[in-house]
Amino acid sequence: MCGIVGAVAERNVVEILIEGLKRLEYRGYDSAGVALLTDQGEFSRVRRIGKVQALADAITDDNGKGTTGIAHTRWATHGGVTENNAHPHASSDRIAVVHNGIIENFADLRMRLRDKGYTISTDTDTETIAHTVHSLLEAHDSLLGAVQEAVSQFHGAYGTVIMDREDPSRVIVARSGSPLVIGLGVGENFIASDQMALLPVTRRFIFLEEGDVAEITRREVNIFDVDGHPVVREIVESTVEHDAGDKAGYRHYMLKEIYEQPTVVRNALAGRVSLDGLVPGIFGDNADALLSQIKHVQIIACGTSYHAGMTARYWLEQYANVSCNVEIASEFRYRKSVVHPNSLLVTISQSGETADTLAALRLAKELGYTSSLTICNVAGSSLVRESDMAFMTKAGAEIGVASTKAFTTQLGAFLMLTLALGQHNGMSDVDRTDILTGLQSLPAKLEETLELAQEIEDLAEEFADKHHSLFLGRGEQYPIAMEGALKLKEISYIHAEAYASGELKHGPLALIDDEMPVIVVAPNNELLEKLKSNVEEVRARGGIMYVFADKDAHFESDETMRVINVPHCAASVAPIVYTLPLQLLSYYVALIKGTDVDQPRNLAKSVTVE
Ligand code: G6P
Repeated sequence: MCGIVGAVAERNVVEILIEGLKRLEYRGYDSAGVALLTDQGEFSRVRRIGKVQALADAITDDNGKGTTGIAHTRWATHGGVTENNAHPHASSDRIAVVHNGIIENFADLRMRLRDKGYTISTDTDTETIAHTVHSLLEAHDSLLGAVQEAVSQFHGAYGTVIMDREDPSRVIVARSGSPLVIGLGVGENFIASDQMALLPVTRRFIFLEEGDVAEITRREVNIFDVDGHPVVREIVESTVEHDAGDKAGYRHYMLKEIYEQPTVVRNALAGRVSLDGLVPGIFGDNADALLSQIKHVQIIACGTSYHAGMTARYWLEQYANVSCNVEIASEFRYRKSVVHPNSLLVTISQSGETADTLAALRLAKELGYTSSLTICNVAGSSLVRESDMAFMTKAGAEIGVASTKAFTTQLGAFLMLTLALGQHNGMSDVDRTDILTGLQSLPAKLEETLELAQEIEDLAEEFADKHHSLFLGRGEQYPIAMEGALKLKEISYIHAEAYASGELKHGPLALIDDEMPVIVVAPNNELLEKLKSNVEEVRARGGIMYVFADKDAHFESDETMRVINVPHCAASVAPIVYTLPLQLLSYYVALIKGTDVDQPRNLAKSVTVE
């Protein structure tokens, strides 16, 4: 969603803020803004619609001065994409505010503020933060006190940073539901919604906890918990690679991240699994005893992470003999569900901050699950902190909004979980060996699969003028077809649907013609013959097919079917291997269409509001 950066320093902070915003731009990118304050009390606010570069271009010597400042990239929730709705928002020429999240009771607050004489001049919920804080200044002897009282009036989610024109020495920050991290410098301190924003200036961070309010000056950081008591939070040295925000010579982050997959999958497996089996304790200190009791798994996630969970269900039931349900977090959290005995709740999330997934975890804690595990890519994130067990995917920072390497490492994590649960539930030696040898050779298979890039780039031309497409798969490749369809729609804006190919006759066959390419995922497994029948059904209706198939599956290219041979691999890892060509296909189609690959329209990387 939105991104926040703030700084209190002796030097001019405008460049730090703009660089920070650029590093957060992948989170939201419909407008950006900055408010700056000099030691002499000179104040400036600049906001622009569009990318951070538009804001950077609008900064001049006159409006770009300040030792204290707050900045924001917006992903609109309340109010359209206009300069007036862009952050920072202000009250009475004094208070300036940036905010991530949603103030749900903004309508009530507006009414109360109008009664007090405030004029509401934007469509946003954030403006009510600025006026509420302003309205409380008189009753308190400090900005901190005003903010502490103000937050008690807010319902919903917020990460917010507040600045007072009359006091350039500090900013006040508050976290409830939207993450904030304080960056510690020497004679200067910072705040951001993600440590990525601050890596050029510091590697020492304090992750604020739910309900925290903090006062940040150049030399001090004072944190107060939800009850207003002073607290000391741990200082964490960041291990995120410094160049995580660079494209490393690739044209897009997405392409870089696709090509990183052999390496990150290798890293994710290293020290955790070998041909001999799983290394004990990889899910945490007491996890092995706990996992030995588990008979059922409930997986909760959103988006691409949900597709990883869908794939895992096939593995957990087929190999580990453990029953498994998978549900979209926004559905799970709003319905009554039945908890099976000895159930493990598993959340999956690249960011660890997805609002619905986090809310589902919090709800599940009240429902009687034996334990909770998160499979996550961001250390210190809310899901990691609030789950009983955390298994890190080690994909490294993922910047492209369309998730790629996070997905394949999530799948790797699930194969390890399958092994861990399978050893207590009668997993066969054949299956165990298939998974272990499959994982062992996986990084090399992924490297080999990436060699298909040129062939896929060529065939992408055939998609560029299409408006619809259909992805087909069976068994554990059905969720991979879903993920392929999601990638294509996310970044090329071509309508893409995925179907379990057995469902073809129950509707989608009616759509088949030569304007609707059909993408088939066809590894050589026990469902191959059934899949071939589905292919014939499409062919008989004049459909044009692109079949990603194992060489041994014996598909032949002809005028209605183009076959792309994917390297042969163990059945257990085939969903991971077959993901890569589909990622490349969506990437090259988007490239031809000229869309914004890394920041597709209307989407955001980290969905921290409902
Ligand atoms: C957004 C992102 C997707 C991601 C989903 C879930 O929609 O654009 O790429 O799959 O959120 O995010 P999470 O961080 O929980 O995996």
